[in-house]
Amino acid sequence: MTTSFADLALLELLAPQAGELILDLGCGTGQFSAELARRGCRVVGLDRSSVVLEQARLAAPGVQFICADIRDYFPDEPFDAIVAAGVLHWLDSLADVARLLKPGGRLVATGSSAGFSLPPLEQAGFTDVDMLVHQDRYWLYAVRREVTVAS
Ligand SMILES: C[S@@+](CC[C@H](N)C(=O)[O-])C[C@H]1O[C@@H](n2cnc3c(N)ncnc32)[C@H](O)[C@@H]1O
Repeated sequence: MTTSFADLALLELLAPQAGELILDLGCGTGQFSAELARRGCRVVGLDRSSVVLEQARLAAPGVQFICADIRDYFPDEPFDAIVAAGVLHWLDSLADVARLLKPGGRLVATGSSAGFSLPPLEQAGFTDVDMLVHQDRYWLYAVRREVTVAS
């Protein structure tokens, strides 16, 4: 695990609790997966690249890594929290992120703010959105609420 400012800020926002079920979305080589497992979380690392997952499996042997695009991933159990470092800007919509979270579940993300555009958070049921932009990075914290559609 690196100890860069961005990584530490992300973990502080996430505030992972031992025993929580956490998805490392776009986990890459698994640095966050490994750290979350070390902190006692139940972690699933998801990435559509099998190449990076080979390294992730070496970095975090106890973690379940799944090679799939988020659009094709339908787990049995929703997550308490999702960490998404450097990946949200690849997605057309946050609907897939929302359906993977429990009501009240947290989404914590980082990315480059240079020309970034995030899919609309509110449409996917996220509230309590807190975005901090610092130089060329952003940190995002959002909570998923059930969306009530007025009839
Ligand atoms: C910039 S890398 C970040 C890796 C890691 N989170 C980190 O911070 O080191 C983005 C990763 O997201 C993955 N990714 C992009 N779109 C995805 C999708 N739709 N479903 C699953 N993984 C995706 C890519 O394969 C890549 O490994």
